[in-house]
Amino acid sequence: MDRIDPWGSNAIEDYERLFNQFGIQPFSELIDILDEPNHLMRRSVIFGHRDFDKFWEAYKNGENVAVITGLMPSGKMHFGHKMVVDELLWFQERNIPVTISIASIEAYAVRELSQEAVKNFGIDEYLINYIALGLKPSNCEVYFQEERKSVISLAPLFSRRITFNELKAIYGELSPAKIVSALTQVADILHIQLEKYGGPKYVNVPVGADQDPHIRLTRDVASRYFSEYGFISPTATYHRFLLGLGGGKMSSSVPTSYIALTDALESAKSKLMNSFTGGRDTKKEQQELGGRPEICPVAELMRIHLIKDDDKFLKLYEQCKSGELICGDCKKIAWSYLQKFLEEHQKKREKARDNIDKYLVRD
Ligand code: TRP
Repeated sequence: MDRIDPWGSNAIEDYERLFNQFGIQPFSELIDILDEPNHLMRRSVIFGHRDFDKFWEAYKNGENVAVITGLMPSGKMHFGHKMVVDELLWFQERNIPVTISIASIEAYAVRELSQEAVKNFGIDEYLINYIALGLKPSNCEVYFQEERKSVISLAPLFSRRITFNELKAIYGELSPAKIVSALTQVADILHIQLEKYGGPKYVNVPVGADQDPHIRLTRDVASRYFSEYGFISPTATYHRFLLGLGGGKMSSSVPTSYIALTDALESAKSKLMNSFTGGRDTKKEQQELGGRPEICPVAELMRIHLIKDDDKFLKLYEQCKSGELICGDCKKIAWSYLQKFLEEHQKKREKARDNIDKYLVRD
């Protein structure tokens, strides 16, 4: 049986398969009911969901709803981690409360890192970058897993109604560290429905598609504890992964695969200029056959992060497809956007550092 591995480093090859095989629903079906879908939604980067239509309907009816996501502070934050932030900003624009779990227990348990390193990555990399990317402090809470009492007390309680066979069916190979991480994540997602956090409500979880196993588990657990806690099954929105600069997945464990938001300009430039592309072997072939932006990490970086204007992006896309634009020139265009982005972002980081206490809740 095929499984999705939330701790693996393999790219998901075929997103369509996730619809049939795992019952993820296509996000494209919802695009018309949303107001002002963002570029990730319009461009099918957010490609799938579970019951997001129910969340949206509740929101439209004026019910209390909330969003929670989490991040694994186990290394540098790169562009592959930025999609979720853009999604969070969209929810914040709609005044939907946002909670972010810094998955310190998970990072400590499943990666070989000290607690201190995990704390530092959580703040210096993730939180400061999130703030610099525009995350607002109002209606927003960020916490470390082991500091959140409700999460710590809820996670072990869930062990009562989960069987080992069920976990094996969802995750495949298991370890104590993986089980602890999974239960903690379920508690992350469900605890904001406790009375202390305003009681039961629709909660949407924006995440990368690799997190679907945790979402399935959480939805099952929610229904089993309905009579005690009144939990409503959380909904989810899934984004694709960014292609790494060598093809494959952009992954923090492969430094040449990513550009980090804190990379020095020279190093970012050299990674971009040396990136794999969807170009052909020779200039002549490129002009005859055209480029392949669908498999090109440079095109992806522009499509997903650097060019928000649809017309501008489409123009480049067409020029690539028709063979008019060759990779060397395209990389120069990409660099001009990337350079501007990184310079501005890194400036904003300096200010962001002073504001972390407006976000971090130490309980
Ligand atoms: N496991 C997630 C990751 O590796 C991080 C995470 C922890 C999370 N808790 C969460 C994601 C709650 C969504 C909701 O990125």
